Amino acid sequence: MSITAIVGCKWGDEGKGKVAAYYAKDAKIVMRTTGGNNAGHTVIYNGKALPLHLIPGGITYPQTICIIGPGTVIDPAVLLEEIQMLKEYNIPNFDNRLKISGRAHVIFPYHKDLDELHENLKKHPVGTTKRGIGPTYSDKDNRIGIRIYDLLLEESQLREKIEEATILHNQNFANNGMAHCVVDPVQLAHQYHLYGEQLRQYVTDINPIVANALDNDDKIVIEGAQAFRLDLDHGDYPMCTSSNCVTAGSLCGGALPPNASIEVIGIDKAYNSRVGNGPFPTKEKSSIDMGISSSSYQQFPGDVIREFGHEYGTTTKRPRNCGWFDCCISNSAKHILGVNYMCINHLDTLGLIGKNLGYIKICTSYNYQGRVIDYYPDDITLTGEIPTPNYEILSGGWVIDSSCKSYDELPELAKKFIEIVEKHSHIPVKFLGTGPANDDLIIRDI
Ligand code: IMP
Repeated sequence: MSITAIVGCKWGDEGKGKVAAYYAKDAKIVMRTTGGNNAGHTVIYNGKALPLHLIPGGITYPQTICIIGPGTVIDPAVLLEEIQMLKEYNIPNFDNRLKISGRAHVIFPYHKDLDELHENLKKHPVGTTKRGIGPTYSDKDNRIGIRIYDLLLEESQLREKIEEATILHNQNFANNGMAHCVVDPVQLAHQYHLYGEQLRQYVTDINPIVANALDNDDKIVIEGAQAFRLDLDHGDYPMCTSSNCVTAGSLCGGALPPNASIEVIGIDKAYNSRVGNGPFPTKEKSSIDMGISSSSYQQFPGDVIREFGHEYGTTTKRPRNCGWFDCCISNSAKHILGVNYMCINHLDTLGLIGKNLGYIKICTSYNYQGRVIDYYPDDITLTGEIPTPNYEILSGGWVIDSSCKSYDELPELAKKFIEIVEKHSHIPVKFLGTGPANDDLIIRDI
């Protein structure tokens, strides 16, 4: 297979970086193709933890070309900070290996202000990361977006584009108590033109690079961002992000053809978590529901899962809602994302959760509209009913650590958990995460 897509199967934060690193080791190209700095993961380089939000983690391997594709949205200030950090760590041949598509759209401060404004005005806010993702994509759809290429134009040309793009936004700011956010096009054009000059050497037409790799059957890895249930078309609309983070969207955002030879690795966690608002059928009650501090974590099962899993946003630091593994969503992901194999991360964490609570639950079907179903229904908004999970329950838990390197070495209860997941998700589990480091991974020969 020349392309491997690493995609999230639930609501993000599944630990895509670990499997992405495994595949990037000998890849020619590693790409981010959708989303922006709403995503985030940490890569380890020479023993140092480097937080990355835009640049693919594959940059730490000396041979990879790392592309930020046309389907992404880029906050130049954040990107420049990442570039500076990676250069300080002397990542080899960095300047020749980072390629930024000139077609990617630019996140401006007014997009972040609009994100804030929309969220504040809504009765049911999405709980966005406030990074300006939605407003940037909606400007793109509305054809008033400003692209990375535009940052390389004359400053006066950029200023004209900003003026045109912000006519209605400025009215919205002025009319909604946010007059301080009204855009000064002169100042903004000046600042973003300077950003453009700093980024110029990395900005390129990525099509010939990708075409060449495809022609040579070189290995390409897509580091997916966000996940299935956050996809704009197939996720929990409107409680989702503003890009197509399913596999098809990831291909499109990277200028990759749909008929390419592709393998899809669906990334999941042994329990599930969600940050932001929206349906979560297997969610356990936690202190978040009570509006109290999550530090009193002994109280509710959702708190136990969160504390053992350290489930706080890498981008926003928000505490995440937590619950049990949901095979119905995985089963739907199999078709919509085209998942060939699954990676289940945090198998070690689930064992500890089970030991603490005395049980582990796995959702194997839903009761929904008077029927038992094994997939995620798409008319929840219409029926107003969140599916009720039916669980298989395992007693107790297990303790494993990163010294466990093969499936056969796993405790019987952990194997039972994997068997149940495979049976009801209808996807083989090839990878198992057993600890935080990239090497804490069991790879099954299937
Ligand atoms: P936005 O992408 O900032 O517009 O946020 C939309 C929804 O997606 C919110 O519920 C966010 O919390 C969620 N979200 C966006 N990116 C990520 C991610 O990388 N991991 C988990 N949730 C995310």
